[in-house]
Amino acid sequence: MNEKTFYITTPIYYPSAQLHIGHALTTSMTDTLARYKKMMGYDVYFLTGSDEHGQKIERAAAEKAMKPIEYTDMIIASFKRLWKKMNISNDDFLRTTEKRHYDTVQAIFQKIYDQGDIYKSEYEGLYCISCEAFFTEHQAEGGLCPDCGKAVEIVKEESYFFKMSKYADRLLAHIDAHKEFIQPESRRNEMINFIKQGLDDLSISRTTFDWGIPITIDKGHVVYVWFDALTNYITALDYLHDGPLYEKFWVNNNEIVHVVGKDIIRFHTIIWPIILMAAYIKLPTTVFGHGWLLLEGGKMSKSKGNVIDPFTLIEKYGSDSLRYFLVRELPFNGTDFYYSEEALVTRINNDLANDYGNLISRTISMIDKYFDGIVPEKITVEPIDKVLESLAQHVVSDYETKMDNFEIGSALQTVFKLIVRANKYIEEVAPWQLAKAENFDRIGTILYNLTEVIRISTILLSPVLVETKENVKKQLGLGDEQWYRFDNAVFGRGPSGYKVAKGNPLFPRIDLKTLDITEAKADKPKKTEKVATEKKDNLISIDDFFKCQLKVGEVIAAEKVEKADRLLKLQVDVGAETVRTIVAGIAPHYTPESILNMKIVVVTNLKPAKLKGILSEGMLLAAKGKETLSLIKVDGDIEKGASVG
Ligand code: ME8
Ligand code: MG
Repeated sequence: MNEKTFYITTPIYYPSAQLHIGHALTTSMTDTLARYKKMMGYDVYFLTGSDEHGQKIERAAAEKAMKPIEYTDMIIASFKRLWKKMNISNDDFLRTTEKRHYDTVQAIFQKIYDQGDIYKSEYEGLYCISCEAFFTEHQAEGGLCPDCGKAVEIVKEESYFFKMSKYADRLLAHIDAHKEFIQPESRRNEMINFIKQGLDDLSISRTTFDWGIPITIDKGHVVYVWFDALTNYITALDYLHDGPLYEKFWVNNNEIVHVVGKDIIRFHTIIWPIILMAAYIKLPTTVFGHGWLLLEGGKMSKSKGNVIDPFTLIEKYGSDSLRYFLVRELPFNGTDFYYSEEALVTRINNDLANDYGNLISRTISMIDKYFDGIVPEKITVEPIDKVLESLAQHVVSDYETKMDNFEIGSALQTVFKLIVRANKYIEEVAPWQLAKAENFDRIGTILYNLTEVIRISTILLSPVLVETKENVKKQLGLGDEQWYRFDNAVFGRGPSGYKVAKGNPLFPRIDLKTLDITEAKADKPKKTEKVATEKKDNLISIDDFFKCQLKVGEVIAAEKVEKADRLLKLQVDVGAETVRTIVAGIAPHYTPESILNMKIVVVTNLKPAKLKGILSEGMLLAAKGKETLSLIKVDGDIEKGASVG
């Protein structure tokens, strides 16, 4: 049995919208660590997934007039496409809508209930749907969420509570005794201060909507989405049946790592460990909370809509380049950093094209030129070669220390010290001068040394540059995997006498001047403005309101849409001889007959959109209850086309 086991997870992201490069960042970091540990001889289990319940998703689905599960199926397909394109090596993808997860969440809830840490009461307070988090009035000053700045909603309902307060001291003692539990250190201090202010009991069930996992003991309740989501980390290992994965990667494993962004560190270092304590389960080793990727307007986020699409960047620059940029730039001390496409291109040009790519192409060209493409032997060793060799050995061990410490960016920086030194070595030893003197023994030694630097740096970069490694293997002619194993990252161990095969440049230089990044640039100021006002007060001006054109319309025809249970196709007369086709998700609430001749309110300046192949040219206003929907009708005798506002 391999004693070295490693379990690593990403957050399970919300399918409330498509993923952006912030999510790609966390997942790239996690994948890099998973691949690194595998390279170090560990048995690795790597989990990612999707967090599909709760009001946020229920509303996102309703906006698209879809059932929640249809909606999440659609978005999750694109999660999976992205991870495939990015060469993410996850072993499992957990969806919280799967049966195995329902069963696990219900069992954990029951276990904690049975041992007395869950009680029924009434919750009255504030709730941020975007963060799916509860706040007190004091925390949500001015009715705004302290985390994301959006308006919070008032919640008053019967709820089951989890006795978190009881565990505050035990949690503090654990954090104190396990310095590795919350990383980086800045996060640890934040959390300690937070817990020291005392913990409130947590409301862990909701009754005012039903898109969640029902509680077995009380059918009207669904489990609070964070209690549901956090449990995913053990569902996937088959905690429920005490399965072999659970034994191996949880019970008998000393390296369990959750990688998350700082926005959700509180959930992972307070709620999650307390759930585990209350269920008599051991805690994970480390929760690593990295900083945020920012755009000029602040944090890149799905709910603000100021996002950069990873698919576009992969299309333009390739998956390895995007992975490299993200993990290289991420500060390991947990601070935030800005994204710009210029920074991305500059990083690719400097490191990957000029330094690494160039070293490879120069070396292979010289082997072609002086040795007919056959890697020569080491014959005449000089002191300068020893400098390169000892730097290589130092870099390998420094890299290992840094990677073990989650400092991926600086581990990569270390590798580039070696690459840069090797390029400088070429200038210093000037093989072209030696060729004039026909000193081919010396040139051979130099070229052998350069292939060793390429081989070793390719090993060290391989957890990030997944596709590139295969390409280098081909060009260098060292196709055998054994030469790329970490235990062979020893200078001088590689063979000679094999044939190289020059290919296309690995990373062609990108010309910043001709780059088409105008679109992203033009978008930014607009978004910055929007975010700034949103954050300040969440209010809109009267001018903003009147951008929305509302008119009285009369339904003159209505019919069901084929193969779409929820949709009705309406012909609505909005005055001035204009009849609009509108497709509305109201079929569960209105029959075609019942809506005929009704006078309703229509948004008439909405961009037309196709629904089930029908172009819908407007939207009806309706009030949405928990399970009901009621159209806004116009009172009294008013003509069609009258404006509303
Ligand atoms: O919070 N910079 O899901 P989520 C860096 N479902 N990382 C970012 C980022 C940014 N601008 N934006 C997002 C949830 N991320 C819950 C998780 S886990 C049991 C449940 C990354 O879709 C970062 O990892 O809002 C952050 O923590 C996560 O995406 C939030 O994803
Ligand atoms: Mg979020």
